[in-house]
Amino acid sequence: MAGEIRFLLNAGEVSIAAAGPGDTLLDFLRLERRLTGTKEGCAEGDCGACTVLVGRLQAGALVYEPINACIRLIASCHGCHVVTVEHLSGASGLHPVQRAMVEHHASQCGFCTPGFVMALYGLWMSNPDPSVIDIETALQGNLCRCTGYEPIVQAALAVTRAGGQARDALNVERAAVMERLAALAGTGADVSRGEERAIVPVDVDALAEVLMAHPEATIVAGATDVGLWVTKHLRRISPGIFIGHLMKDMAADDEEIRIGAGVTYSEFLSLARNHLPEAEAYLLRIGGWQVRNAGTIGGNIANGSPIGEMPPLLISLGARLVLRKGAARRTLPLEEFFIAYGKQDRAPGEFVETILIPRSKGARVAAYKVSKRAHADISAVSAGFMVRESGGVIREARIAFGGMAGIPQRARGAEAALIGQPFAGKSFEAAARAVRSDFSPLTDWRASADYRQTVASNLFRRFWLEQSGASEPVGIDRLVKA
Ligand code: FES
Ligand code: FES
Repeated sequence: MAGEIRFLLNAGEVSIAAAGPGDTLLDFLRLERRLTGTKEGCAEGDCGACTVLVGRLQAGALVYEPINACIRLIASCHGCHVVTVEHLSGASGLHPVQRAMVEHHASQCGFCTPGFVMALYGLWMSNPDPSVIDIETALQGNLCRCTGYEPIVQAALAVTRAGGQARDALNVERAAVMERLAALAGTGADVSRGEERAIVPVDVDALAEVLMAHPEATIVAGATDVGLWVTKHLRRISPGIFIGHLMKDMAADDEEIRIGAGVTYSEFLSLARNHLPEAEAYLLRIGGWQVRNAGTIGGNIANGSPIGEMPPLLISLGARLVLRKGAARRTLPLEEFFIAYGKQDRAPGEFVETILIPRSKGARVAAYKVSKRAHADISAVSAGFMVRESGGVIREARIAFGGMAGIPQRARGAEAALIGQPFAGKSFEAAARAVRSDFSPLTDWRASADYRQTVASNLFRRFWLEQSGASEPVGIDRLVKA
């Protein structure tokens, strides 16, 4: 029987009997527990001042990842271990990560510092020998207004070279924490405060059941968007059904890649490095590390945003969705899921369960994101390219864009301009012209319609230059140095 929200907080345990679905972890830490080392800056997952570690059992292991407490809703902490900056220093003084920050003069006003410390703590534990690029990638989601990043990177290099992770409290206590979390596993939660209700189903079958009973509910996975509905738009999301711990399975064979809707960007990245390497640099440009550790592939799709990063890539690859309602399942091509702006082919009580991605062996694949900032920004235009050629002739082309219409959409005219044509620059030049008739994008504060049209055209030229070997693809290493 589902009951209280229960999780471990530093060395203690928390039980919450009354809560609403919009209660944030950050408010709980700062206002109720007075753990004020965790700061509030932007309250939208952009600055990293609120970074804490969340540990959870995953395939028999205990994995700690940095996340943004400002947009983490408290119900989704059920069954986790939340670690704040207050847990780092003990009787022996500062934690090695904190000491390195002091010794390298990596803090001035100090407002951002606890967030940097927690992100670096997460890196220090998960990667004992990071490169500068690894460090800068791990810090994409942390902003500092006064110190500058060089001393912080130097602190990160020094502390990882010094080692000592095995003696860290989180490693020493790992077995005991796993035991405590295992005791919490297998329970759901169902709490209310006034008319507000938060439900954490114990498994996918329980999710299917509770959604049938509450088809009007807000489904919350990583809350990297829903969190902003709460903190920025003050929206009520009751009843909220929390699913971020469910549908985490991933598998790949010769035919397809299958991922559960609850797989996070970070988890998908680990799979993509082996099975979809063309997507690695693109995935590393989604949010910052904290956002990638929370946001889910299924959430990015089900949300229906015209500027979500995953749909253009997945549509270009021919992905299909498995949707479930009660015990019934149906499969449909991802591109058909998006009907119109704000309207998806999802019935009341139905949810995205699995994403099926056909293997693109032998095809030329690329994914692009164009945004004002290189990191932790929302795309103005994004695109997925999948082009198959043989004997110098283009046989298949699936090219999808985000940011060009009210929904993620294929560039049918540009595709037609390519198919049957020689695999040559002039064919991509024709497609670059044709794509201008495929879309009538909007002008908004992120980009003008003309800019979007120009970018879409230029991405065909870029694809050709990269595929013909005239230009190197822009990897995350080049963006970090930019
Ligand atoms: Fe800025 Fe949370 S307060 S990311
Ligand atoms: Fe002031 Fe980073 S030290 S914002």
